[in-house]
Amino acid sequence: MSEILSEHTRNILGLQLPTDPRWVNLAEIQLEEILTDHAYCEQKAALTCISLIQKNSDKELLVEELSPIVTEEWGHFRMVLAELKKRSLKLGRPRKDIYVNKLLQFQKKDGSPAERFLDQMLLMALIEARSCERFKRLSEGMEDVYMRSFYRKFMESEAGHYTLFITLAEHYIDKKTVRKRWAAWLEYEKELMCSEEVRGDRIH
Ligand SMILES: [Fe+2]
Ligand SMILES: [Fe+2]
Repeated sequence: MSEILSEHTRNILGLQLPTDPRWVNLAEIQLEEILTDHAYCEQKAALTCISLIQKNSDKELLVEELSPIVTEEWGHFRMVLAELKKRSLKLGRPRKDIYVNKLLQFQKKDGSPAERFLDQMLLMALIEARSCERFKRLSEGMEDVYMRSFYRKFMESEAGHYTLFITLAEHYIDKKTVRKRWAAWLEYEKELMCSEEVRGDRIH
């Protein structure tokens, strides 16, 4: 875990710990598993955006901005599904999402509605940021040139989503509060990443 993120990448993602370089090699030899996991990540992203719209129907900008993201994430799911089919690989079962479950534990359970909303936005921003970093890794480190460009498309898209969730947080909550809580989330995620074993059968 000694590799340091370049200043540029750190600025984009804010993440405190880069992915272990060994992860790309592990992922590449377990393509069916990684594509299956990726497919469900995209599906969950679409579902979560629908649920956020339902829970925050009073927030006009959020509804307007997240509606097209649902379509986009579902489009990603279909792209991964098509890739599996093309390679005669099967969509397996969804797995238990340890990473997301552990992140959920950091949400303020007894916070005010504003605090809970902020955590929802930052949780999503964090998942998007880490996914983006992982897709970047795949797009730069895989042997297969086609797969590199396949993941590059996802990387660019998730970078936009990460930014959107931060922007939405700052639209409804004052910037200073957002920054402070974001720093706490980043710290928590760093600890989480340090404690997880490196596995090539999952995106995170
Ligand atoms: Fe996506
Ligand atoms: Fe996304």
